[in-house]
Amino acid sequence: MPLVNTKEMFRKAYEGGYAIGAFNVNNMEIVQGIVDACKELNSPVILQVSGSARKYAHHAYLYKMVEAAVEETGLPIALHLDHGASFELCKDCIDGGFTSVMIDGSHLSYEENVAVTKKVVEYAHAHQPYVTVEGELGQLAGIEDEVSVESDKANYTDPDQVQDFVTRTGVDSLAIAIGTSHGAFKFKPGQKPQLRFDILQEVMDRLPGFPIVLHGASSVMPDYVATVNRFGGKMADAIGIPEDMLRQAASMAVCKINVDSDLRLALTAGIRKHLAEKPEDFDPRKYLGDGRDNITAVVKHKIESVLGSANKA
Ligand code: G3H
Ligand code: 13P
Ligand code: ZN
Repeated sequence: MPLVNTKEMFRKAYEGGYAIGAFNVNNMEIVQGIVDACKELNSPVILQVSGSARKYAHHAYLYKMVEAAVEETGLPIALHLDHGASFELCKDCIDGGFTSVMIDGSHLSYEENVAVTKKVVEYAHAHQPYVTVEGELGQLAGIEDEVSVESDKANYTDPDQVQDFVTRTGVDSLAIAIGTSHGAFKFKPGQKPQLRFDILQEVMDRLPGFPIVLHGASSVMPDYVATVNRFGGKMADAIGIPEDMLRQAASMAVCKINVDSDLRLALTAGIRKHLAEKPEDFDPRKYLGDGRDNITAVVKHKIESVLGSANKA
């Protein structure tokens, strides 16, 4: 099976009340850690690449690694551009074999966001085979691709805009802001995590059957935070989205749940622990191997306990 776009994945996920995990990839251990879990649980998956990941690892390396993952697993895998900042970046990724792209115009004015998103959609949909496009309305707090959005500048998605945006742009899915944020510090210490399910419900009412995307959806898993801190890290105040809220979102219109920070934490925890316990080791395969095993464990946990995508490949 070749790389797939997200169309069929999302159709089935919406109907089945589950979500597809969209995991950020930057190197081989991360790709392998994720797809080993998906293979074991027979789950479809989206592997996504940010602009800065593409700068770090280079397009061809990432593309070939994901192609190898498809060949090794036989699973439905989409290769997606995360937070595409311009038409040109989206075009480069489409021309270079990505099967799905996000154009993130959420920091622009509404009309500018519509214009650039429509331009990407026209290019992506004319491509053979059809490339799916994710747009975004509303702005999440946190750090993404070197752009930092202060929490007071973040704003929830306005449900009154979604129908107009989707109709005028032709996007295949829509990322919305309901209180999640990027990074490992999503809520202040003592603050009660909350998501605006009322906004999600209003969006669903206006866009029946349409796939919604949740960014900034790491749970910042406490066990890995504890391990990182035990071995010299400084993540004491890290706090993420409670898993029951993600399950609720997945049972509603949310068909794609984005996770990066949990993978970073798991990898870092594995490496820190290994090097602290075996300081004599200097073989990267040993400590990176432990990081990779942690990633597999995290992704298995997400598939079984949060996404509900096991046996949906
Ligand atoms: O939403 C952003 C992702 O976590 C990617 O982060 O731009 O540092 O690769 P990055
Ligand atoms: P987290 O930082 O919560 O993992 O979010 C990742 C994300 O939204 C990637 O686009
Ligand atoms: Zn994101």
